[in-house]
Amino acid sequence: MGVGHSRWATHGIPSEENSHPHFDCKGNFLVVHNGIIENYQELKNELKQKGHGFKSDTDTEIIPHLIENFAELGFEEAVKKAVGKLKGRYAIVALNRNSDKMIGVRRGSPLIVGVKNGVKDSDKREFFLASDIPAFLDHTNNVMYLDDEEMVVIDKNERSIKFHNLERREDVEKRLINIGWDAGQAEKNGFEHFMLKEIMEQKDTIMRALNQDVKSIGSMAEKINNAFGTFFTGCGTAGNVCLAGEYIFSKVAGKHINFIVSSEFPNYHHFLTDKTLLIAISQSGETADVLEAIEAAKKKRVKIMSLVNVMGSSLDRKSDYSFLIKAGPEKAVASTKAATSQLALITLLAYACAGKLNEGRRLLIETASKVNDMLNPRYEKHIRRLAEKIYKKDSMYIIGRSLNYPMALESAIKIQEVSYIHAQGFAGGELKHGPLALIDKGTPCIALVAEDEVKDDVISNAMEIKSRGGCIIGVAPENNEVFDYWIKVPDVGDASPIVNIIPVQILAYHLAVLRGCNPDYPKNLAKSVTVK
Ligand code: M6R
Repeated sequence: MGVGHSRWATHGIPSEENSHPHFDCKGNFLVVHNGIIENYQELKNELKQKGHGFKSDTDTEIIPHLIENFAELGFEEAVKKAVGKLKGRYAIVALNRNSDKMIGVRRGSPLIVGVKNGVKDSDKREFFLASDIPAFLDHTNNVMYLDDEEMVVIDKNERSIKFHNLERREDVEKRLINIGWDAGQAEKNGFEHFMLKEIMEQKDTIMRALNQDVKSIGSMAEKINNAFGTFFTGCGTAGNVCLAGEYIFSKVAGKHINFIVSSEFPNYHHFLTDKTLLIAISQSGETADVLEAIEAAKKKRVKIMSLVNVMGSSLDRKSDYSFLIKAGPEKAVASTKAATSQLALITLLAYACAGKLNEGRRLLIETASKVNDMLNPRYEKHIRRLAEKIYKKDSMYIIGRSLNYPMALESAIKIQEVSYIHAQGFAGGELKHGPLALIDKGTPCIALVAEDEVKDDVISNAMEIKSRGGCIIGVAPENNEVFDYWIKVPDVGDASPIVNIIPVQILAYHLAVLRGCNPDYPKNLAKSVTVK
């Protein structure tokens, strides 16, 4: 038995003292923890008064001390009592030096059990506890999901596993689920970084996202059409996909859907009724802000539809209707293939809502095939050459309009998070209201252009930037005299967000590498953001 933990700092700086595991006074109980204990200060004061000493600034350290406090009840009961005192969202794993048991508890943060060699072959079986499946995918793809308020007790001697519901105070049975991913999918397979591998996988993943049961697309479209008030919610890249969805639904299906970023969604509860539909988009299905948004919606009896990559994730299980985007494991912190799969599926749903499912499917299949053509070494080299020209710049700006405005925002996230260059995305029309003041001689500005009704306006905005000294990088189906550097993308009509974001993903990747940054593990960020 052993534990390891990568800490994403919430309380106290990243330091050895603040690293997990944390121990009780005698070093008998140890705990690793993901999440935030909201009432830790109050509990810490109580424990200090009882004579417990603390070595770290973390909220986590109170947990082993609380277990120690109840130690005479036995390990399992002590953990139950200890977690009964905690407020907040968390997943913990606890060990006891004097016991052969490992105990996990989940409330709000993900905790998944991996089971190797099935449940029957008890002599050989091995168990893994992790917050995300790729952590143990090298060993097994058979999983059991803990729900909130559940505890798992793994006994090393008996090689047994037991689940207990802490609210109902009863043992519960779990199904063993094969998630269908294999370890190879979570390897770099010859690529230097996961980010580049995942960008290149878009040759297949968009097509896989479209491979949905026609009947369920139809019935989801009906639910969207019949809802009275529909919202999109998501965070970061998934949030930008939601905003693109807002435009796509308006343009293709004539349907008004509001996008609210998940961390703000609970503030919109006044507008929710039992006829509202909330469409949540998330790669991991474990983002705390998204889960809070759907909890707030559920309180008003809103129906939840989700687009999610990780099967069996909290969002998948908590949704009334859920679509898997089938992108396979996404390991790089920067979301790439998940984003384009989400865009493909949202576009397909919009066409289905407009009663034009076949037309939408044809467009997206053609788009997937054009993405396959785009992602060749020559194309990548062309973008790398651009990165070599601009990688020392401090700031970059990206403009787009209509469907490509959300992609300007998404381009900025990609560049910021992996290369640490200051990047900002704007709606082209907003430039004159402030951002133009930021343009200096040679400032790189990307214009995302499609063959649509706003093309001329975006080109005019690019001209305005150029007139003030900016260097224009055009991502567009056709070259234009305003472009200092042109990256060609196919003309795919309403699917333009998919093809326009891909070259920017490649550019962000190369900017990161040229600046000596590891694009897979950006500083200060985590792949799944499981804290508020
Ligand atoms: O797993 P999710 O899709 O819910 O994650 C949401 C964001 O945390 C995520 O998209 C984040 O913005 C990415 N690192 C961006 O590349």
